[in-house]
Amino acid sequence: MAKPKVYATHQLFEEARQILETTCDVEYWRNEERPPREEVLRRVKDKDGLVCLLTEKINDEFLRAAPKLRVAANVAVGFDNIDLDACTKRGVVATNTPGVLDETTADFAWTLMMAVARRLGEGEQLARSGNWKGWNLDQLCGADVWGKTLGVVGFGRIGRAMARRALGFQMKVIYSDAVKAPAEVAEPLKAEYRDMNALLAESDFISLHVPLMAETRGLFDAPKFYRMKPSAFLINTSRGPVVDEAALVAALEAKKIAGAALDVYENEPFIHPGLKRPNVVLAPHLASASIETRTKMAVMAANNVTGLFKGQTPANTLNPAVLKKS
Ligand code: DGY
Repeated sequence: MAKPKVYATHQLFEEARQILETTCDVEYWRNEERPPREEVLRRVKDKDGLVCLLTEKINDEFLRAAPKLRVAANVAVGFDNIDLDACTKRGVVATNTPGVLDETTADFAWTLMMAVARRLGEGEQLARSGNWKGWNLDQLCGADVWGKTLGVVGFGRIGRAMARRALGFQMKVIYSDAVKAPAEVAEPLKAEYRDMNALLAESDFISLHVPLMAETRGLFDAPKFYRMKPSAFLINTSRGPVVDEAALVAALEAKKIAGAALDVYENEPFIHPGLKRPNVVLAPHLASASIETRTKMAVMAANNVTGLFKGQTPANTLNPAVLKKS
């Protein structure tokens, strides 16, 4: 019997390729840069499965171009690039990669927080510039992280991993979420629930860990920045559109907050020029980018695809209704 045909918009990692190729006939996009949209639409015409990255929009246009598609496996936990309703309507199972990137992402959010508080970007530039004249008492003094208050917005797996790190820095952790965490989760982390306004007023560092959805788009807007302490920092490793970038730039210009550290942007790869300032640390969407974690993500996506073709429900199915329909 012919193997199901799969298109992968990246060549993935060896471990993931092996899994896919045992069950499927796989075609890969192998170039360094991301594939043009028209190229992807052309390639998926005859495909039964897809492994894609968050840079691909899986919407109605895409699904129309892939009439045979049965599964779209995103190599990311966030799935705001996928129109789940459109997938369900067209009988396509959509999957993501939850769980495997929590600690790695929290590590990076922590890295950003330390970097912006301790002015690492400015220090690094000075050290490389050849202009460093030596130690001085008030040179590039930043803000302490240890002992401060960390406000976690979105207390899911990654937010909790962030809170766990704060224990070692003797920080006070407060969090805000649509639902309060059960006591057995919050108590060991010494994390206290706050409504958003209280969190904004109390936090020295605010770290965002919410998914992008209608309710969180533009969540951090001008009124929120105006409620933060002028000494506070914003850290974002979630999704760019959770923050209103123009409002953030205005708040930084008006010194309403002390700084920001960002891994994600409203219109990637565009970075608002107003963010390119010394008190903002900028990274190019790297939070899950360790070789171990990215490999696990690719393997998970591969298993989601092969699972479906073996007649199973893929472990990370986002729209189970689609399987009930058939
Ligand atoms: C995700 O998985 O959603 C990240 O943004 C990339 O790891």
